Amino acid sequence: MGRYSEVFRRSLADPEGFWGEAAKGIDWYHQPTVVLDASNPPFYRWFADGILNTCFNALDRHVRDGRGSQPALIPDSPVTGTCRSFTYQELLDEVARFAGVLRGLGVGAGDRVIIYLPMIPEAVVAMLACARIGAVHSVVFGGFAAHELAVRIDDAAPKVVVSASCGIEVSRIVEYKPILDSAIELAAHKPDRCVIVQRPQAAAALVAGRDLDWEQAMAGAEPADCVPVAATDPLYILYTSGTTAKPKGVVRDNGGHAVALRWSMEHIYDTGPGEVYWAASDVGWVVGHSYIVYAPLLAGCTTVLYEGKPVGTPDAGAFWRVIAEHRVKTLFTAPTAFRAIKKDDPAGELARQHDLSSFRYLFLAGERLDPETYRWAGDLLGVPVIDHWWQTETGWPIAANLMGLEPMPTKAGSPTVPVPGYDVRVVNTDGDEVAPGKTGEIVVRLPLPPGCLPSLWRDDERFVDSYLSRHPGFCITGDGGYRDSDGYLYVMGRIDDVINVAGHRLSTGEMEEVLASHPAVAECAVIGVNDELKGQIPRGFVVLKAGVRADPAALSTELVQLIRDQIGPVAALRRVDVVAGLPKTRSGKILRKTMRGIADGQDEPIPSTIEDPAVLSALRPVLADSG
Ligand code: COA
Ligand code: AMP
Repeated sequence: MGRYSEVFRRSLADPEGFWGEAAKGIDWYHQPTVVLDASNPPFYRWFADGILNTCFNALDRHVRDGRGSQPALIPDSPVTGTCRSFTYQELLDEVARFAGVLRGLGVGAGDRVIIYLPMIPEAVVAMLACARIGAVHSVVFGGFAAHELAVRIDDAAPKVVVSASCGIEVSRIVEYKPILDSAIELAAHKPDRCVIVQRPQAAAALVAGRDLDWEQAMAGAEPADCVPVAATDPLYILYTSGTTAKPKGVVRDNGGHAVALRWSMEHIYDTGPGEVYWAASDVGWVVGHSYIVYAPLLAGCTTVLYEGKPVGTPDAGAFWRVIAEHRVKTLFTAPTAFRAIKKDDPAGELARQHDLSSFRYLFLAGERLDPETYRWAGDLLGVPVIDHWWQTETGWPIAANLMGLEPMPTKAGSPTVPVPGYDVRVVNTDGDEVAPGKTGEIVVRLPLPPGCLPSLWRDDERFVDSYLSRHPGFCITGDGGYRDSDGYLYVMGRIDDVINVAGHRLSTGEMEEVLASHPAVAECAVIGVNDELKGQIPRGFVVLKAGVRADPAALSTELVQLIRDQIGPVAALRRVDVVAGLPKTRSGKILRKTMRGIADGQDEPIPSTIEDPAVLSALRPVLADSG
């Protein structure tokens, strides 16, 4: 038996022995004696009596063990033309001081703090400062609009919001503060205080009595020490798109998260103390939480925080420059980034202008890795290109080629095999396992391994309804796919209303709700269609209310803007067609899958349940027009 098979088998046969051993990679105030508390299924708790502090493990421990002068964080920002470096000692000092600021504002263990920041070091400092005092952070991605931020403020009910005057999108200044102000106005819950980072590119007007300037607050702050918390206490809430308009507040606990991420750095990413790890993502997404901030620091690595794009900051050689300059060993990004680079520099000439000798691994996730991009990247770079599959709910990979355990031959289109701890099955609608090669729903048998969501924020019922009730004893992933006869997994895409646009997870249901709120719209549909660069992009279709007269072009522009204003630019809905009707089943269900198939140029069969085939015939040319 190979090493992978042996370790995988043991992780499922003896999860307590397996994870109990992995827990030794973490410093505990009280070493857990209960590895898995399974007394209240389907709610499982890892390391139930363990006591630790995640920030201590990410910073203090390394300083204690002699890594104080090693770079911990390298914020590299081509959009501002700056590059900085914080050693472990320097980062610890900043974090302890900001923890003191938060404490001075009345934030204690269990209180929530919303972080709405661009890719600046203060984002990392604020996250770790929350962890230090046992507060629960909830980072909101900067590309979301005020309404989305308000929804999250209302759900998390933060005491404090940390934000900045602006973000920078290539060369466009995006003022964050007006977005924050209107979100607070829209929200029913009002945070007590806001701490604002004033960036030189834009000054934010501060609200007297509520807003504090980050620098001034830091100047007078007393450093705060780590607070011991229970392994099962929440570390953060990260909202993610579900099938309805209301985002799901995925909860991450402290103990399981620390143990799983530490294990993953060694066994999946093969990257250890002193080595440089770069996740080119955003702290607002789960990849940013796990692999920009927590995992590399838990492992004693140097992590790169990149404020820029793969192209345009200044060109398609940006990633190669960062790898060469900071001696990056491991890069993790989304396939879209590589498609963007390939589009601008198809022959990869810019890569050859840099010394990439430190570079060992390219990990890709966030969306399906198309075989062409996989081959292009592998040929150009000559390093293993590892497709791995995971989601916000799990916080770390479900399937991967485990570089630190037993590298396996790769197969284009497959994220290889289930990671130890994940009992992955492919089932039909009745929950029965399907044969190799047959497509079905991908589910994971309970208990999920450490690090995965224990529940949704203050909503156990929704957690059970959304993930656990469809196939009792299993957690659904929302993805469909199959396994081949060698056990390799193929993840073919979402089977719900979630789409992946440039690696960003979005809900078509939420976009439909926004379109339907327009007074001229009687009904609508939003579908994700294939896109060469972004993998998928949304397209909207609306039917007008009887008697409404509107110029289709003007209405379309208005609806595109409405989505931008309500959800944010990240939704990337650029086209809405005004159509005479939407194809439906006889029971009134819109045939979105059929629409998607036609828009993607597939030979889509007309379902026998269709109510009026003429409606679909009339829509066909609009769907087929990809311009
Ligand atoms: N703050 C404010 N606005 C933001 C933002 C942020 N943090 N992030 C994105 N936006 C805006 C962009 O400016 C853009 O606005 P526009 O419509 O006015 O141009 C819109 O949201 C869409 O952004 P994005 O999806 O990034 O598309 P893009 O066209 O700007 O760039 C790529 C395309 C491929 C270069 C880019 O998507 C990319 O780098 N993808 C890498 C994938 C990635 O990081 N995924 C994260 C998960 S691993
Ligand atoms: P997020 O929660 O934003 O990380 O998005 C998770 C979703 O992205 C998954 O449910 C998949 O649909 C998709 N995804 C992530 N990684 C992969 C991958 N390697 N292959 C295919 N789809 C992926």
